[in-house]
Amino acid sequence: MYVRPHELFKRFLNGFKAQPAASVVHSLATPPKLGDFIDALDPELSLDWSSKDFQGLPSLREKVVLRTGTDSECTIDNVLITAGTAEANFLTISQLVQPGDEIIVDVPGWPQPLVLGEAIGAEVRRLNRNEDRAWRFDIDELAELVSEKTKLIFLCNPNNPTGQVITEQELLKVIALAEKVGAYVLCDEVYAGLEWSGESIPRVANLYDKGISTGSVSKVLGLQGLRTGWLICRNKNLVFDAMVLREDTSEIMNIMGEAIADIALADDYYLTAIKQALDAGRHNLQLVDNFIQSHSALDWHLPPAGLIGFCHLNLDIDSVEFADLLMQEPWSTFVMPGTAYDYPDHLRLGFGGSAGAGVADGLQRMHQFLETL
Ligand SMILES: Cc1ncc(COP(=O)(O)O)c(C=O)c1O
Repeated sequence: MYVRPHELFKRFLNGFKAQPAASVVHSLATPPKLGDFIDALDPELSLDWSSKDFQGLPSLREKVVLRTGTDSECTIDNVLITAGTAEANFLTISQLVQPGDEIIVDVPGWPQPLVLGEAIGAEVRRLNRNEDRAWRFDIDELAELVSEKTKLIFLCNPNNPTGQVITEQELLKVIALAEKVGAYVLCDEVYAGLEWSGESIPRVANLYDKGISTGSVSKVLGLQGLRTGWLICRNKNLVFDAMVLREDTSEIMNIMGEAIADIALADDYYLTAIKQALDAGRHNLQLVDNFIQSHSALDWHLPPAGLIGFCHLNLDIDSVEFADLLMQEPWSTFVMPGTAYDYPDHLRLGFGGSAGAGVADGLQRMHQFLETL
């Protein structure tokens, strides 16, 4: 299987290599430091693996079902701890989808299922999110894409890059269509917990026995470097198959990641961290929204969740030229052009990190750049 590099990854590679003075791309809460966990870590922790369970530390899996609100339908047996949401998605797609199968993926959306589906030799069908419907998709369009060959419907909820959320009513309609043909529904829920209305997204693992919820501590807690996430599915065969593939790729979970995530998801740490993440996220979302409202070159649908949004460019130049010029001195600011999602007239703006500081600086630089156009 050859996996081609997608545009989003290429842009991240080059963007960070260029060491810009500012950026409006970050999609995670302020990353904590190792020192924040030192006191709670057991100095006797063996740096072998836990030897407790191949699915991941039972205490961590317990916290995962509680924090995701899947505890009414799932137990720790339905959880596999993975190297982030990315590995959870990879294991699921790789084990479920065979050459010639069909998979349906929401676009704009997370590129991983598109490139993996193509690399496997599956037919990838794109489910368009419509900008004029605030980036919702049309369930009738999905009905037309589903066939007897559909193995998997992959949805990003909350969506990367638009922040749009799928309601329970909508998800139940998706599930009804999937159920007719025996397809799985995977929801990448990595941005769950950052819903600005305060209303949590529905977890697909709660609603469907072939529903797979993937997520991690990367975004809400800013712990992306831990590489610790999960997949949750009521179908234990799926969880087992994913574990089998992991054995032949990264093998077992990293014990430091598990131990720190276990601390981070416990009340003592989590309740303060989530409040800080929500306060900073709301503050920064407001900054970006004010910025967009005051520049006629930009408009967007306010993202209902997550730390990124997708804005439309009303300019004579496309988003690549925009991003490349903005990266130059004196602005030296990194933004993600919409071409990373096949939307040349859009920009993905990220407002993660601590309140103000970085985002405000990036926006100020972008303002100066826009004045020159
Ligand atoms: C939608 C989506 N899924 C997965 C990932 C990867 O997250 P993790 O660090 O949990 O692997 C990201 C990271 O940007 C993302 O935006």
